[in-house]
Formats: sequence, structure tokens, C-alpha cells
Amino acid sequence: MLARTKLPQPAVSPKATEFLEVAAATFRNPACSSDSSISFGVDLGTATIVLTAVDGQGHPVYWDSLPCQAVRDGVVVNFGDAVAAVERLKNTATSALGSEISSAATAFPPGVPEAEARACRYVLENAGITCRHLGDEVSAAQALLRLKDGAIVDVGGGSTGVGIVVNGIIVAIDDQPGGGHHLDLILAGALGISVEEAEERKRRGDQDYSHILRPGIERIASSILRQIGDYAVQSIHLVGGAVRVPHAALIVAGFGGIRTCAYPHSELVTPFGIAMS
Ligand SMILES: Nc1ncnc2c1ncn2[C@@H]1O[C@H](COP(=O)(O)OP(=O)(O)OP(=O)(O)O)[C@@H](O)[C@H]1O
Ligand SMILES: [Mg+2]
Repeated sequence: MLARTKLPQPAVSPKATEFLEVAAATFRNPACSSDSSISFGVDLGTATIVLTAVDGQGHPVYWDSLPCQAVRDGVVVNFGDAVAAVERLKNTATSALGSEISSAATAFPPGVPEAEARACRYVLENAGITCRHLGDEVSAAQALLRLKDGAIVDVGGGSTGVGIVVNGIIVAIDDQPGGGHHLDLILAGALGISVEEAEERKRRGDQDYSHILRPGIERIASSILRQIGDYAVQSIHLVGGAVRVPHAALIVAGFGGIRTCAYPHSELVTPFGIAMS
């Protein structure tokens, strides 16, 4: 059993929570919207490529995703596969929404060199989508969360990005290797199963593996603290798919002594934030 910490948890924004609950239900299933001006986002992640859509009022309209290993930590390592995945997502979305996707925003992890970040733009363009905005992933998450103060932490498949927010402005960003894939390696080793099987079991979520994953989550927590450095952060706001594992926020809070919360459907924060950017 996981030891309980008495650290109070910061309130998760009710607005962001409601957005994410509604957004999750639009998976390959467009929401009705009276507003026809739709903005699209494409998240070229290490584990998945996600296409999202919001209407002109900022309400979630649609999302879809495909597992894809064509991008590693913001670096496009297999251009053809990345383009093919975006094309597939685009075609499915075009049929589902009944409208063309001519432009979209995309994002890269903070700290990725500009030349690598530009490759994200080229992926969209080769899939027949104009890149209307190329920004960093933490700023995209903030577009949805609208934190006043604290640290936004995006724990994805391959890396952990941190943004420090002061008075609603991001004053520092960083990104370091380490995320959900590392948890898969730990689970696979502990259970004597393949990494693919570990990934599947972890995502299924029907068992609490926190007693096994705790060292891996604490390693992520230590990376978060290193990235926060000397900033006086009062609260950590976890997003990204890797923090969907049970007790992730509790373990990070206990390790760092900083109040920590994880958002529901945390893997959707950055992708929908990209569409809102
Ligand atoms: N429901 C879930 N339960 C547990 N883990 C999950 C769940 N959904 C996603 N994950 C994990 O989250 C990770 C992927 O998260 P996410 O989609 O945010 O990453 P990404 O954006 O593709 O990667 P990165 O941001 O590092 O480039 C994977 O390790 C995956 O196993
Ligand atoms: Mg990501």
C-alpha cells in the first residue's frame, strides 16, 4: 500500500476539469457546435500523434489519436511515418466533421533546437495542412489551464517539460528526458513481460502498479525539482499521459514537498491547448 502524505493538494481548476471531461467524450465523435470557425491542433508526441479541434468559443469539438513512434522528444526521426499518421488523422477528421482541415497549430517540447522544431511544421505541410502556429508545448498547456502561479509539468511518453508561471506569464521553460516509457521499462522488468505488454497493462489501468512504479515516478519528480530550480513554486500541475497512473500526484507531492495535482484526462491538456494556441 502507498504511504499517505498529509500534503494538501492544490485545487484543480474546475473550468479546465469541465473542459477536459467534455473534450474526452469527443474522441472520433464530434460535438455539435453552432460555431463553424474551428481551430485545429496537431500534437506530434513520442507515444502518440493527436489531432484536436476547438470551436470559436474555445469549446472542445473533436479529437483523435494514433500511436506513432516517428517522433522522439520533439525530434522527427521518421518523417514519412509522421506525415502518414497526420494524413490519416486529417482524413478521418475531415469525414467526421464534414469540413476541410486547411490549417492547424503544432508544438515542440521546450528546449528543442529551432531546426528540429521546424521539422514539426514540415510534417504538417507535407500532410497538406498549413502550420498557422508553431509554439512550445508548455505554453500550449497554459493556453488551456490558464494558471496564475505554479509549475505546469507535462510528463509525456519520452520527456518531462516544465514551465514556471508567475502572474499568468510563463517565465521559464525546460524539458528533460524521462516519462511514461521509462515506467514501461520498470514494469516490464519487474513483471518479466515485454515492454509492449507493460505499456498495454499500464494504460488499461485496471491494476495499481504504484508499488512497482514508485521509483520511476520519483525519478520523474526529481527531474521536475531540478527543472524548477530556485523558483519559489507553491504548486505543481501535472499534465501528460504518464501521470494517469494511480497516485502519480501523491508520489510527486511526497517526494518534492510541493502541493501537486494531476488533471483528469491529463493526456489531452497539451493537445487541446495546441488547438487553442
Ligand atoms: N490511461 C493511461 N494510463 C496510464 N498511462 C497512460 C495512459 N494514457 C497514456 N499513458 C501513458 O502516457 C504516455 C504518453 O503520454 P502522452 O500522450 O502525453 O505523450 P506524448 O505526447 O506522445 O510524448 P512526449 O510528450 O514525451 O513527446 C505513455 O507512456 C502512456 O503509456
Ligand atoms: Mg506530449
